[in-house]
Amino acid sequence: MSATAGTCAEDIQVESKIIFNTACARCHEGECSGRMSFHLPKSAADQHILHHGGELPPERIGQLFELLRYMKEECSFYPMASAYEQDGIWDSDELTQLRSPARQAYFVFLGDLEAGSYRLSVQGENDNPEYCIEVVNSEFDYYEKQQVSAKADKAVLQFSADKSSGYYLRVTAGEPLVLHKLELQAIGKNGVTR
Ligand code: HEC
Repeated sequence: MSATAGTCAEDIQVESKIIFNTACARCHEGECSGRMSFHLPKSAADQHILHHGGELPPERIGQLFELLRYMKEECSFYPMASAYEQDGIWDSDELTQLRSPARQAYFVFLGDLEAGSYRLSVQGENDNPEYCIEVVNSEFDYYEKQQVSAKADKAVLQFSADKSSGYYLRVTAGEPLVLHKLELQAIGKNGVTR
């Protein structure tokens, strides 16, 4: 394997994590075998990655391989930064970095959330008739899965986190889309209290 010795979080680029979590995880999510089986020869594995990930440089393929290894060994998504601790708002610039190269998907680490109810608002524009919003936690439990009509430029959804865990948002569409703003708020008994 290439350059795996001493691999730490900084070595994996955000873009690789976005590709993995939007193009690969739907099949590889929750594979917690603790190790790679390596029954695919390297060339076949590379072909498989190119097939699902699109045109990618060798360095990127290596990182995707590492991300699958991490998922199998740690049984979780690779660590990412979250804007929740600051203000719970992701602006256009932050979101652009969390978009897949094909511009059809976003993957956002919402944060390590306490159990409770949350409101998530997603604003954007696109030519899709509709797109899909999912919220999933570190243990690969799904909390919300919704088809949103793209005509509405803002979608608001609520989900109840039943345990403290890392929570993630995945947005996927058939055509390119642009998100301008994302906002996450904890909902207290008397309304929004964060
Ligand atoms: C449609 C489902 C699907 C998607 C999407 C998918 N995979 Fe896979 N992947 C599989 C299956 C099934 C296998 C096992 C194939 C086999 O072993 O014959 C596999 C095997 C692999 C292997 C070999 C693992 C081993 O233990 O030898 C790697 C590496 C891999 N995938 C990486 C990726 C990456 C990176 C992506 C995204 C670019 C991706 N896969 C997308 C289903 C998928």
